[in-house]
Amino acid sequence: MARYALVTGASSGLGRDIAIELAMKGFHVVLCSRNSLALQEVRDHISGLGRDSSIETIDLSNIDETVSRIQELLNKYRNMEIIVNNAGAGIYGPIVEYQDRDIVNIINLNYVSPVIITKYGLAHMIRMGIKGAIVNVSSLIVYTPIPWFSIYTSTKTALKGFTDSIRIEAKPYGIRVIGVYPGYVETSFHRNLIRTKSGEKIGDSGIPRNPLVPRHSSRYVARYVVGKILDEDFNGDVVIGFRYKLLRILAILFSPLIYRSLESSFIKRIKTIEPAVG
Ligand SMILES: NC(=O)c1ccc[n+]([C@@H]2O[C@H](COP(=O)([O-])OP(=O)(O)OC[C@H]3O[C@@H](n4cnc5c(N)ncnc54)[C@H](OP(=O)(O)O)[C@@H]3O)[C@@H](O)[C@H]2O)c1
Repeated sequence: MARYALVTGASSGLGRDIAIELAMKGFHVVLCSRNSLALQEVRDHISGLGRDSSIETIDLSNIDETVSRIQELLNKYRNMEIIVNNAGAGIYGPIVEYQDRDIVNIINLNYVSPVIITKYGLAHMIRMGIKGAIVNVSSLIVYTPIPWFSIYTSTKTALKGFTDSIRIEAKPYGIRVIGVYPGYVETSFHRNLIRTKSGEKIGDSGIPRNPLVPRHSSRYVARYVVGKILDEDFNGDVVIGFRYKLLRILAILFSPLIYRSLESSFIKRIKTIEPAVG
């Protein structure tokens, strides 16, 4: 019987590389996102490696669509052992400039859809007696709140709380719930950020360039994450690389200091910007 793994946001970046890694490890990967052409490219790549995968287009910012499609997919690919909630996007700029529609879409995509997928995925695994894994891709940003990333940070923080709680709920069924906390990964995420007027003026994503903050390739991160997913004894948080592990510990231990330093560097950066309150 085929072993299935579902990966959301499989059309690019981290999701694409996680899907390829899982396919290489023998899973039939169900590739989900909105862009069917990009998904086809990933499917072709996987088939070039002699593996099978399927494409399922879905807009995860639409919750009604997410609810109906996830049930349909679990009925279609019944032996679903791994679900990776990876799709996500960011919005950058002062909260007063955000479009209401963008706020709702980002919250749905980054938080509500992983919750819905986890709910149905977990119920399915319990019903089928599958001792699988649910993987939620959050971000290290939850430990260092970055100004102008308020909605992104809060969705990833909510996802962390959800993941930590569900890990305990799922444990009696032998189902693992893994939280992934990447630092900076070189993907189109930063280019695809929705930027408000002031966000455009600042230019980059506002994440400080610092030698302590390495930039990882998505292949490297994907390999590490898939290694943890396939380790049946692992059921916890994934932080990639020594420097990010250290940064996380420092952020927890010295959060008031880090908060103050973020505050003062932010104030210096935005001195010239007048947010458009409208
Ligand atoms: N890159 C980083 O530095 C970084 C750091 C920490 C955490 N993360 C997290 O890592 C995850 C993967 O991001 P990435 O860096 O690989 O970025 P990416 O290359 O931009 O990939 C984002 C993926 O999400 C999918 N997606 C976006 N909106 C969607 C929607 N409405 N419905 C369904 N799929 C949607 C995109 O596919 P379509 O456009 O085809 O829909 C794409 O496959 C995200 O959750 C992100 O928050 C990234």
